Amino acid sequence: MIELRNVSQRFAGPGGSVEALKGIDLTIPPGEIFGIIGRSGAGKSTLVRTINLLARPSEGEVVVAGRALTGLPPAQLREARREIGMIFQHFNLLSSRTVYENVALPLELAGMKRHAIDAVVSPLLELVGLSAQRQRYPAQISGGQKQRVGIARALASKPKVLLSDEATSALDPETTRSILQLLKRINRELGLTVVLITHQMEVIKEVCDRVAVLDAGRIVEAGAVVDVFLQPRHDVTRALLGDVIAHELPAAVKARVAKHLETGAGQLLRLAFAGGSVDKPVLSEAIRRYALDVNILHGQIDEIQGRAFGSLAVLADGEPGQLGDALAYLRAQGVVVEALAHV
Ligand SMILES: Nc1ncnc2c1ncn2[C@@H]1O[C@H](COP(=O)(O)OP(=O)(O)OP(=O)(O)O)[C@@H](O)[C@H]1O
Ligand SMILES: [Mg+2]
Repeated sequence: MIELRNVSQRFAGPGGSVEALKGIDLTIPPGEIFGIIGRSGAGKSTLVRTINLLARPSEGEVVVAGRALTGLPPAQLREARREIGMIFQHFNLLSSRTVYENVALPLELAGMKRHAIDAVVSPLLELVGLSAQRQRYPAQISGGQKQRVGIARALASKPKVLLSDEATSALDPETTRSILQLLKRINRELGLTVVLITHQMEVIKEVCDRVAVLDAGRIVEAGAVVDVFLQPRHDVTRALLGDVIAHELPAAVKARVAKHLETGAGQLLRLAFAGGSVDKPVLSEAIRRYALDVNILHGQIDEIQGRAFGSLAVLADGEPGQLGDALAYLRAQGVVVEALAHV
C-alpha cells in the first residue's frame, strides 16, 4: 500500500544541512495499523509528511496505492493526496466553524453540493460519536472530542490511508485509549491503512500490527509488534520499551543479585513469552525436568492486542548440563531466552 524506497530528506540549517531521513526503505501492507516510533527529533514528523509529499524527499521514491507520488504532476498529485487523510497532535480545527462545518470543509473546498456533503458528514459524525455535538464550536468540546472531529474530517474525502502524527499525545491516558480504539474500529470496518506516529510504546502496544523504530533518520528495527516486544534488538527499542516492559531491574534487586552472581551461583536470564507459552506451565515443567532452582526477580504479564505477553527476569541455578538443556527446552516451547551477563 505504501512504499518508501531509499528516501532521504535534507534540510538547510544554520550550521550546514541537516539530514532528517537517511535512506529509508519501508513497506506498509494494506489494511494494517503500522506504528512508527522514535525519540524526539528522530525524524518521525518528517517521515509522515513525506508519505503525502507535504515534504518532498531530497532523494528516493514514495509509492502509495501503486502510484509513485514523487513522479506525479501537480494536478494528479492533488488528486492522489485526497486518498491520504491526516490527523495531528493539536487537531488543527477552525475555531470559527462548528463541529459539522469543520468536517464538511474539505468537501466544500472540493466543490461538493450541500446535500451531498450532508450525506457524507452526518454518518461520519455518527461513526465518531459526535452527532449530538454537531452544532458546537471547538472551544465547547473536550480534547478527545476535538480529535474525533479531526478524524471525521480526515475521513470525509474517503481516503485509503490515514496518517496520524502524535494524534493522542495531547490527551490523557483514558481518552488516548478511546481514540486508539476508534482508529482500530475505522481500520477494521473501513479497511483503512493507518500509519501511526508516536513516541509512546504504550500506543504501539495498544493498536499496532507492525512497528518500525526510527532513530536519527534511520529505521533501526522493524517487525510484528509481538516479535519486537519479545526480542528487541536495538538499544533505542529497548529504551522505548522500558516504559511498558521493565528491562531494567529495580536497584534493590540489582544489589541482591550482584552479590549472588559474584559467588558464581546461577545465571541471570530474561524470559519472554507470547501466545500459547503464556498459558502453559513451561517454567515449572523446566524446573521439574531439569532440577533447577529458579528465583523470579522481576516480571509482568500483559496483553498486546488481546494476546497474552509475559516478561520475567529470573536467577536460575542447576547442574551446568541441566541448565543448558533447560534453556533449550524453554526455547523449543517458544520462550525467548536471553542470558543477561550482568545486572
Ligand atoms: N523544515 C525543517 N528545516 C530544518 N530542519 C528540520 C525541518 N523539519 C525538521 N527538521 C529537523 O529534522 C530532524 C527531525 O525532525 P522531526 O520533526 O521529523 O522529528 P520528530 O521525530 O517528529 O520529533 P518530535 O517527536 O519532537 O516531534 C530534527 O533535527 C529537526 O530539527
Ligand atoms: Mg514530530
